Amino acid sequence: MERFKEKVALITGGGRGIGRAICVRFAQEGANIVFTGRNNDENVAETIRQVEETGAKAHFIQSDISQVPAVYSMVKEALDTFGQIDILVNNAGIEINAPFWEVQEKDYDAVMDTNLKGMFFLTQAFVRFVKENNRTGVIINNSSVHEELPFPNFTPYCASKGGMQMVMRNLAVELAPLGIRINNVAPGAIKTPINAKILSDPALLSTLKNNISLGRLGEPEDVAAVIAFLASDDAKYVTGSTYYVDGGLTFHYTEQ
Ligand SMILES: NC(=O)c1ccc[n+]([C@@H]2O[C@H](COP(=O)([O-])OP(=O)(O)OC[C@H]3O[C@@H](n4cnc5c(N)ncnc54)[C@H](O)[C@@H]3O)[C@@H](O)[C@H]2O)c1
Repeated sequence: MERFKEKVALITGGGRGIGRAICVRFAQEGANIVFTGRNNDENVAETIRQVEETGAKAHFIQSDISQVPAVYSMVKEALDTFGQIDILVNNAGIEINAPFWEVQEKDYDAVMDTNLKGMFFLTQAFVRFVKENNRTGVIINNSSVHEELPFPNFTPYCASKGGMQMVMRNLAVELAPLGIRINNVAPGAIKTPINAKILSDPALLSTLKNNISLGRLGEPEDVAAVIAFLASDDAKYVTGSTYYVDGGLTFHYTEQ
């Protein structure tokens, strides 16, 4: 299936985890890929290898999403490289584990600036490009089940993801007349480095699995598949929605 032939996808945080799976999925479906990340390390080389293996082109931009001038340069570099951007995936994100009463200002700022401010201004730069060139575009935010579900000890993370939900809903209304669709994907419990602590602790892992209706963690490819659907014309009547990719975790309820 080549739903993204002659398209260019810009993906933040594509060096590993869900971001890498998104890069590879879009490449498999015919898109050329621009992806970003803070460090140019062996993870980046591996994403490039996997993208190029599909026959697609890959361009990496070393950039910190929490810095607004860097975000604007990111779009310029992507356009200088491929001349167009059709799909934006706001994927990069961080979380910090701390009880509410111990959260430091610098940690609050890091989470909010990476997860919310970065996607806000990158989306703005993408929308300006689409508008000024009379093109269409599609945006998918990788938010989290925690745009809805409480997560004790992760309050800044939940605030950032809840913010992504309202930015998405607002922009669905505001950008529809420009021919731009925007949706969120809300993953829950995916096997990536962000969950390294849980994955290496059998007791924590067992408790988590008991809270997931499907009884297992998700793979990064499970999330990438839904993001690809939302980016494609198969979802041409979908905007302003959040799609949960969580094995049933969010509304799991049992009395046994
Ligand atoms: N894994 C899960 O269970 C899960 C669940 C819900 C939501 N998510 C969300 O999915 C997204 C991807 O997470 P993941 O699980 O792949 O984790 P990950 O830690 O493997 O990947 C995060 C990516 O974001 C990049 N990144 C972080 N800060 C950045 C910055 N300042 N500038 C540029 N890039 C930066 C990292 O380099 C990395 O590539 C995140 O937004 C996360 O909140 C993940």
